[in-house]
Amino acid sequence: MELKVKKAEELKELPEDESKLGFGKYFTDHMFIMKYNVENGWHDGKIVPYGPIELDPSAMVLHYGQEVFEGLKAYRRPDGKIQLFRPQENFKRLNSSNDRLCIPRIDEGYSLNALKKLIEIDERWVPYSEGCSLYIRPFIIATDAHVGVRAGNEYLFVIILSPVGAYYPEGLNPTKIYVEELYARAIKGGTGMAKTGGNYASSLKAQDEANKQGFTQVLWLDGAEKKYIEEVGTMNVFFILGDEIVTPSIDGSILPGITRKSSIQMLKHWGYNVVERKLPLEEVVAAYENGTLKEAFGTGTAAVISPIGLLKVGETEMVIGDGLIGDVSKKLYDNLTDIQWGRSEDIFGWTELV
Ligand code: COI
Repeated sequence: MELKVKKAEELKELPEDESKLGFGKYFTDHMFIMKYNVENGWHDGKIVPYGPIELDPSAMVLHYGQEVFEGLKAYRRPDGKIQLFRPQENFKRLNSSNDRLCIPRIDEGYSLNALKKLIEIDERWVPYSEGCSLYIRPFIIATDAHVGVRAGNEYLFVIILSPVGAYYPEGLNPTKIYVEELYARAIKGGTGMAKTGGNYASSLKAQDEANKQGFTQVLWLDGAEKKYIEEVGTMNVFFILGDEIVTPSIDGSILPGITRKSSIQMLKHWGYNVVERKLPLEEVVAAYENGTLKEAFGTGTAAVISPIGLLKVGETEMVIGDGLIGDVSKKLYDNLTDIQWGRSEDIFGWTELV
């Protein structure tokens, strides 16, 4: 399938100060769009100037939320070249989210090539500063003008780009998180393992309440028993309990994070005892009480490696590692980001030049 390109007549001004990029506030000059209909399948892929997309008010995504998305990043290497981190994994995951949401699969190779072309065109937007990158947001929405409940027959696949700094205002400083006891994010058989907007919409209430109380995010427990630790919503979680590094196993309600998978690989490569299993909240509390809870951290594309310095369970505030970043979290952060930004040899073969 060909890829047409229509360049913007006028280019935007770049953000003045990369240290103030924040997350998801600025968007580049161009975007990729591709349409789907039953007669033609995915067709008409093109790069066009960034701008509003027109939707009928009855477009199905606006009513029933049939949508999937991804998040990955492009990094500026010290030699000025740009690279991606495990991009095939994101397009593969986009297709498994598509399967769950009844959205037709995309051609992963074509989409990755289109993304590379888009980044090449908007190359000047890839930040140069330490800790900054170009966040890539592919998404697919159902566009049929129809308010009956069924899977769509028409879709739009869009990729937009946004230069970003740290996702959490804390940066590498430990975050404060509380265990959510009232609301649930996902249950087995639901859509927890898919990257779909609905999962995030349903988490807003809890996040809002957490923010009001001075917490960054909430830690979700399993929706059925509220007993096992699942994820934070914007990141997967790891706990160092004695000599075991434990992360909840991917069992249908947790997002299979690519940074999670990379962290497990890296930690195992260094010889750590990493275990993917069911993790009862009770076990973490007991480990805190007997002094064997050493570190806790989250992993995610946006969050990178994000230490958890305080975990509130009911009325108990557990301060982990004196509220400072732990040695393992720091080592993981340093080594992962060195590979992502091309500062060290990529011994795992995870990066790909644009
Ligand atoms: C990511 O880490 O890329 C995410 O999609 C999480 C969040 C920004 C929604």
